[in-house]
Amino acid sequence: MIETVATAESNRELAEGYLLLTVDLNDDVQVGAGQFAMVKPLASFEPVLRRALAVYRVHGPRRVSFLYQVIGSGTSALARLGRGDKVEALLPLGNSWTIDDQVSRAIVVAGGIGSASVLMLCERLASSRVETRILLGAASERVAVGCGLEDFRALGLPLVLTTDDGSLGEKGLITTPLERELRERGGRAATIYACGPWAMMKRVAEIAEQFNTRCMVSLEAPMGCGFGVCVGCVVAVKTDKPLGYRSYKRVCTDGSIFPAEAIRWEVNAMTH
Ligand SMILES: Cc1cc2nc3c(=O)[nH]c(=O)nc-3n(C[C@H](O)[C@H](O)[C@H](O)COP(=O)(O)OP(=O)(O)OC[C@H]3O[C@@H](n4cnc5c(N)ncnc54)[C@H](O)[C@@H]3O)c2cc1C
Ligand code: FES
Repeated sequence: MIETVATAESNRELAEGYLLLTVDLNDDVQVGAGQFAMVKPLASFEPVLRRALAVYRVHGPRRVSFLYQVIGSGTSALARLGRGDKVEALLPLGNSWTIDDQVSRAIVVAGGIGSASVLMLCERLASSRVETRILLGAASERVAVGCGLEDFRALGLPLVLTTDDGSLGEKGLITTPLERELRERGGRAATIYACGPWAMMKRVAEIAEQFNTRCMVSLEAPMGCGFGVCVGCVVAVKTDKPLGYRSYKRVCTDGSIFPAEAIRWEVNAMTH
């Protein structure tokens, strides 16, 4: 992990409210697929805390990009960055997606801006022998474009798209084609990798359990520090120990990627 000042190379709007920020770093970094950074504009007082963004793409040891949705003060401040502006960055953080020997068939499920966490995973799967299908869900065509649709299409992997309003792909939720695929082809031999809104991942975890399918999820939680100190990002996990400190994991250092069956989805629903 390094704490560095990066320089914005570009900050391009892919669709209204969705931008791709590419930065040049002062130091070499090695980033695994699914790892994230804590970032904020150097010149900006507001917000005080950096915001968590997945590393979307690595272009070399000193150039990375982030794909982000403008939500509140932190991402709005990032959206104002221009070429040459300085960015505070702490990276790489968290664990990575793993493609181990057990993975012969992969189903990558991304909901909305959750896509940012899985593009590098898909790149790795595309250059492996793993049979891969990408399922991308978005609210609308605009959101799908903002969430990097063209980058996923460019990988040449089979891709199923759903939108809530039916403006592109199938109308409905992305969990529908997931369920359909597992029903038609069985789930035991597959591995699901998922990132998206809490409700989507909760449903993906239920479907994975129903079809006996291995499932990894990358969780989002509000983050203060990003490196394990503030305990602001904890999620409740299953344990046979009495309820207490060990019933929780820090998303920033124990994750952000967890086995889906480890999470107490019903508890965390209260905080997300
Ligand atoms: C490990 C990790 C990786 C992430 N990667 C990405 C990424 O690659 N791209 C990206 O766009 N975002 C990503 N996020 C989410 C991102 O960190 C938040 O959207 C961001 O912190 C919002 O900051 P803000 O200051 O703009 O909004 P805030 O001022 O913090 O929030 C404004 C309002 O929006 C609500 N809010 C905050 N976050 C979300 C959210 N995610 N969804 C819905 N409502 C929200 C808050 O409750 C508040 O009401 C990631 C989060 C984590 C933990
Ligand atoms: S964000 Fe501070 S402990 Fe996880």
